[in-house]
Amino acid sequence: MDVRGRARAWAGLVVVAALCGCGGTPPGDPGDAGVDSGPRTYVAEPFEPTDATRAYCGARDDAAIEARITELLSELTVDEKLSMLSGAAIAIIGRSWLVPGVPRLGIPGLHMLDGPRGLSSFTRVPATAFPVAMMRGATWDPELERRVGAAMAREVRSIGVDVLLAPTMNVLRHPRWGRAQETYSEDTHHMGAMAVAFIEGVQSEGVLASAKHYAVNSIEDTRHDVDVRIDERTLREIYLPHFRRAVVEAHVGSVMSAYNRVNGLYCDLNAHLLTEILKDEWQFAGFVESDWILGTHGDVESIRAGLDIEMPSDLRFRRLRAALASGAIDERELDRSLRRILRAQLCFGLDEWEHDDVDDPSQRLTPEHRALAREVARRGIVLLRNEAAAPPTDAAALPIDAAAVSRIVLAGRNADVENIGDAGSSSVLPDEVVTALEGIRARAGAGVEVTHLTGTSLDAAGEAAVRAADVVVIVTGLTTEDEGEGEIAGGDRESLALGAAEVALIRAIGAIHDRVVVVLEGGAAILTSDFEDEVEALLFAFYPGTRGGEALAEVLFGDAAPSGRLPFSIPRAESDLPAFDNVSPVVTYDYFHGYRHLLNEAVAPAHAFGAGLTYTTFSYASPAVSAGTIPADGAIVATVTITNDGPMRARETVQAYVTAIGSRVPRSRRDLRGFAQVELDPGESREVEITLRAEDLAFWDEAAGAFEVEAIEYELALAHDAIDPGVTARFRVE
Ligand code: BGC
Repeated sequence: MDVRGRARAWAGLVVVAALCGCGGTPPGDPGDAGVDSGPRTYVAEPFEPTDATRAYCGARDDAAIEARITELLSELTVDEKLSMLSGAAIAIIGRSWLVPGVPRLGIPGLHMLDGPRGLSSFTRVPATAFPVAMMRGATWDPELERRVGAAMAREVRSIGVDVLLAPTMNVLRHPRWGRAQETYSEDTHHMGAMAVAFIEGVQSEGVLASAKHYAVNSIEDTRHDVDVRIDERTLREIYLPHFRRAVVEAHVGSVMSAYNRVNGLYCDLNAHLLTEILKDEWQFAGFVESDWILGTHGDVESIRAGLDIEMPSDLRFRRLRAALASGAIDERELDRSLRRILRAQLCFGLDEWEHDDVDDPSQRLTPEHRALAREVARRGIVLLRNEAAAPPTDAAALPIDAAAVSRIVLAGRNADVENIGDAGSSSVLPDEVVTALEGIRARAGAGVEVTHLTGTSLDAAGEAAVRAADVVVIVTGLTTEDEGEGEIAGGDRESLALGAAEVALIRAIGAIHDRVVVVLEGGAAILTSDFEDEVEALLFAFYPGTRGGEALAEVLFGDAAPSGRLPFSIPRAESDLPAFDNVSPVVTYDYFHGYRHLLNEAVAPAHAFGAGLTYTTFSYASPAVSAGTIPADGAIVATVTITNDGPMRARETVQAYVTAIGSRVPRSRRDLRGFAQVELDPGESREVEITLRAEDLAFWDEAAGAFEVEAIEYELALAHDAIDPGVTARFRVE
């Protein structure tokens, strides 16, 4: 079958999986070849716990668990073992994808469900639709993200799910990637901080997170086959460090391998990624499951490369039975994967709670979860422009004083759309969505007339309404039609530009009104250069979840000062970024993309990575570092005093960018290596501290096959965004 044919077949299977109640191969089906599973005298090998397995197991008695696993591996029949290595059916059974357990031995199995913005709509169970991960990335607030992870875990656990198929943590190499909204960032450090917090939040509720898609997965239209060629340094420094943090810092329960190939090998066959790096170097103690249906390409080869579970059914792994019978694989090799699967179940205590027929609606759509969705949306909205409306006032266009306006016009394609994000595997079915129009109307109050203009051209009545308005808000951008998961939803974007009709509408309104606010919705960068000069204010509102309209109103009316910062760069033109190739079977990912690429090429962005305005101004003073010289395994504490010089309480995100001076390898002009937030009243000052580890300054030495922290001088800039010079301090590594 050609690539398109395979993709079509896959899409059909996914629809079946989501909608029908039919099963796949039943657990324990004899399959193609017989293996004697009668009485046995098999004795499994014992396992000595390591620091990594101990850390993975958390507070539970890991030594006792490993000993119990050894007993179980001796008692399980071969049929039972085989059934535990793959999902039970292509379809969701009950409300999750099931990896069978073995009830006679008290093994609970695994119950998996998406995903990155809440309990999956595949279940048809209404749930809280949180803002998409990219908007949560824009909060730059790991503590808030930890709360989101915990809330999502409570919702999925309420229907018996114990593995949440999130976070998506693939680097946004290019904003045309259809699943951009599912991930957090174009930057590995920022991504790592957010993903670690999310995983810790999820796992604090006894649910395993799944770090996906490992690795280098950031194109939709060719996702099942594309071969990403990448040199080891780029892989190690740009595409893997956040996955490492998920394993080493957050002890993530599981990892999902990606569909694509990396350097010629499909990820499930890629022993370099799965075994050498993930399991050996990082000492990952949990299990790896494949991505769905077309994500497993071998049986014995995949197991040997490091894949532990084929999802969602045994399309390939059913051949393991014959392989065992012929001696092509040994049962002890399977035990290695089974130990990981059992460790996950026992270390997370999945045998201590009921999964089947569980339903606790009191844990879903709670007032706290709805309020959290609103808080995150408010915190993630990014203000990108706020110019003075024309005379007689020189005040900035925002915030809007509800008491001082009597007419507001709302226009744009998303003004009254329940625009909460992708229709693919990350989709959620909320019981309410507050649109921008609804949120603004409610906040403006009875004394303000809010007129909604539909369509993309201004007729005479529309023009009159615009001219009579005190302020015009245009809510536009992208929808599920423009971007989303491959085959089952929107796929990759065709361009970074906003639709021509929407640009024309903005320009037409901008030409006749001097207080025009544009709100862009979408997963990642949308070009603004075509219309930005025509309007007074510009905000990026992503896909803001179930209470997005209320959050937008809070920011527009100044109930809260905006605090979101871009987790990606917005270029002035698409040609300013590396090319996005979602057609070729082989693509090359080189070292530079995003802000690093723009800095390297000396091309100014329209809006920089990290950028975002608010209704006050901050000044930075007295930068200092705790030591002039640190050892290669040491750390340094940077401090800077931040003062709120303006009229309103607001939050500032201080970003720490490092420049390696005189490095012997080409480096980015700057790398984000830390960030911290502070919320200050007008006139208030506070010292902000950011700790940087020397090991995070290392580069991957191809010849040595290891990271090296260079003994050179480093400049640290404490700055507002990726292009702000900020205030600087220097230190050396010895
Ligand atoms: C997606 C995964 C998702 C899985 C199950 C796949 O198509 O790539 O992210 O977890 O389906 O829905």
